[in-house]
Amino acid sequence: MRVAMIGTGYVGLVSGACFADFGHHVTCVDKDGAKIESLQRGLIPIFEPGLAELVESNSREGRLDFSTDLAAPVRDAEAVFIAVGTPSRRGDGHADLSYVYEAAREIAAEIDGFTVIITKSTVPVGTGDELERIIHQIRPNAEVAIVSNPEFLREGAAIQDFKHPDRIVVGTENVRAKDVMAALYRPLYLNAAPILYTGRRTAELIKYAANAFLATKITFINEIADLCEKIGADVQEVARGIGLDNRIGPKFLHAGPGYGGSCFPKDTQALIKTAQDHAAPLRIVETVCAVNDVRKRAMARKVAAAFGGNLRTKTVALLGLTFKPNTDDMREAPAIALVTALQDMGAKVRVYDPVGMEQAKTVLTDVTYCEGPYSCAEDADALVIVTEWEQFRALDLDRLMQIMACPVLIDLRNVYWPEDVARSGFFYDSIGRPGPTSLAKQPVKRLALVG
Ligand SMILES: NC(=O)c1ccc[n+]([C@@H]2O[C@H](COP(=O)([O-])OP(=O)(O)OC[C@H]3O[C@@H](n4cnc5c(N)ncnc54)[C@H](O)[C@@H]3O)[C@@H](O)[C@H]2O)c1
Repeated sequence: MRVAMIGTGYVGLVSGACFADFGHHVTCVDKDGAKIESLQRGLIPIFEPGLAELVESNSREGRLDFSTDLAAPVRDAEAVFIAVGTPSRRGDGHADLSYVYEAAREIAAEIDGFTVIITKSTVPVGTGDELERIIHQIRPNAEVAIVSNPEFLREGAAIQDFKHPDRIVVGTENVRAKDVMAALYRPLYLNAAPILYTGRRTAELIKYAANAFLATKITFINEIADLCEKIGADVQEVARGIGLDNRIGPKFLHAGPGYGGSCFPKDTQALIKTAQDHAAPLRIVETVCAVNDVRKRAMARKVAAAFGGNLRTKTVALLGLTFKPNTDDMREAPAIALVTALQDMGAKVRVYDPVGMEQAKTVLTDVTYCEGPYSCAEDADALVIVTEWEQFRALDLDRLMQIMACPVLIDLRNVYWPEDVARSGFFYDSIGRPGPTSLAKQPVKRLALVG
């Protein structure tokens, strides 16, 4: 089948490459000329494990190409996906649909014959209805079906998620469109991925409800972690104790510095707005957002607590900047609010991330970018693990002890065992586990410790 993918970002590029890998012919279109040019030269503009190989093999075999002009690809396509961004609208938190509507107007001008137009972008309930109106306004006799097919992939595991989804949600009542969607996804349901056919508005809501639920689960365990710290309980054991219950499940129960990323913050806000507009407010989701917002800055107070609340003249080294490992995506990363809060408290900040540094430089200024975890830690008063990249899981604590000004490790992802770190002489604090541990009970300047 001929497919046009409008928008070649994280979702469009991964989806396009995967559909090509299923055997379809896909053209990925983007307005960003530099991005398309680099893809045409075989360079991948984002970091996503396995993506470069997938793009390379499908381009070489002639099933995947790239263009800045949607005219020809749309005219030839039976299926046109819209995978452009839907960021938060400045000022009110509604989803900004201007990119989606612009893409729809451009598509409308080019469609030729029966065409299924599919929103893969996360769009509020009713957007499909509006797209139908826009397209028929421009082309009153166009033969189109507008389908909602929300995407659930996770950055960092996007190809695995796309090829082995828990479910595929298809929102349409149109029988011809259902056949096209079934043909597109046939290789997946041969592997037994359930396709859930539903109404278009229901499909649109499923995506937001899923993200809001996951954000709620994370926020719930984060608040339980805070309680654990007050009462001397261990949040990891609590999470295991509740996660083994099949009704709850173990995923999204890792306490940390608060959720971030390109989806949860904006999607929860947009859902809240939709619900308010329909006089059915979602109080739980409103609270989740409020709790998560204040949590990121609260992490800076956790760092300051190691120094009696005062970070003036202190140098804090952060390991990990992206909102999660295995991506270079810095959108709404907790590290951003954490850096600002640390700087507000007077700290100098050094940072290192394995792949997110270039993206970070566009949002974080006044920090020192370092070449590796150890150069970042050199002469720092505290080392903070912000993102749990694999390479931060087995740091050489003896080496850190030698090079840091003060042996303080604040682990916002609970990747170390408190006893192990304490044994090596560090002052250590983590999330929701029995209080700060250290041999000396207070952070002590390295010279005093070793001398
Ligand atoms: N990133 C994720 O993990 C993820 C997961 C599921 C769903 N989503 C949703 O998918 C959508 C896309 O997200 P993303 O992270 O891929 O965004 P992105 O910002 O990485 O990519 C969007 C791309 O669309 C391009 N674009 C905008 N208008 C265009 C137009 N008229 N024609 C051609 N190209 C255009 C932009 O240049 C950009 O390259 C969003 O609605 C998002 O909520 C994202």
